[in-house]
Amino acid sequence: MLSLAPFQGITDVVYRNIFKKHFRGIDKYYTPFFTGIQKDNSKSLRGEEISPDFNDVNTVVPQILSNTAEEIIRFANQCKSMGYPEFNLNMGCPFPRVANKTRGCGLMADPDRTTKMLNDVFDGIDGIKFSIKCRLGYFNDEEIYAFIDTFNSLPFSEIIVHPRIGKQMYTGEASLEKFMALVPKINKPLVYNGDIFTLARYNTILSSLSCDIMLGRGLLTNPFLAEEIKQIDNQQDKKQRLHNFVVDLYVERLHHAGGSPKIIGSMKELWKYMMNIFDDPQNVWRKVKKVNHLDEYETAVENIFNEYNLI
Ligand SMILES: Cc1cc2nc3c(=O)[nH]c(=O)nc-3n(C[C@H](O)[C@H](O)[C@H](O)COP(=O)(O)O)c2cc1C
Repeated sequence: MLSLAPFQGITDVVYRNIFKKHFRGIDKYYTPFFTGIQKDNSKSLRGEEISPDFNDVNTVVPQILSNTAEEIIRFANQCKSMGYPEFNLNMGCPFPRVANKTRGCGLMADPDRTTKMLNDVFDGIDGIKFSIKCRLGYFNDEEIYAFIDTFNSLPFSEIIVHPRIGKQMYTGEASLEKFMALVPKINKPLVYNGDIFTLARYNTILSSLSCDIMLGRGLLTNPFLAEEIKQIDNQQDKKQRLHNFVVDLYVERLHHAGGSPKIIGSMKELWKYMMNIFDDPQNVWRKVKKVNHLDEYETAVENIFNEYNLI
């Protein structure tokens, strides 16, 4: 099974739905994290990002960033009442302003407190699957070993591991070896996430592992990646398909934002990755980077598709 990793500011409900309309191969989509669930009717839980009217509850997994069992349970109950069979806790976000408050990857550096919190969550939820997404640790890659008993004794539905440490952010390489060392030790379904940018890398991972895979930046860069992995015939009109996707995403974002040029920001975030599927990434990025107005953005996109080819 292939899933799409969550990206705050990029893979929102609009992206997920437009992606699904244009590309195949992804079985499961994780939302970027929700925070600040202070009340059952918190504003963030009333929007399209989580509403079952805009999300297929069976293929979308809502994610929370939190460090209190109370808030996580509240989120779980809300997800359950909307029909979601599963929710996910972010234990991987490496940004210091998050991790320093013992949230995201910071939870991994405090195993006693985190283990108690996870136990309390399971005591407080019922009828909804609970999964986590984590790294090897925040300060070092041994921290995850303090969680093995917890992972094995509590009924997590899956454990997604991005085999880097928080302090690395995205530097260095995700370690397949360190992930493989965890496989015999953890009795829950493990999901591998990290640095799969090509079919060749996917095949290397697959030859060493038989677990589900979460695709991230590789899929943002090359939205055909899941089709390539699943050998879905996609050779025809790839450039036209990508063009249609990019335009559709823009139009839908614009519609959702009431025509505000602010959406250029999220389109640029995506182009930081997508530029790499073109034969001259730096010039593609140069064209997008400088635009501030909607008409400039539209012209830049048309020029990119006229002037450059996919690699
Ligand atoms: C801009 C950005 C936003 C992200 N937002 C989230 C998030 O909301 N939740 C989460 O669990 N991970 C988040 N991640 C991490 C990705 O989901 C993923 O784990 C990471 O990119 C590693 O996978 P990859 O090497 O396949 O890209 C984010 C990463 C980036 C670069």
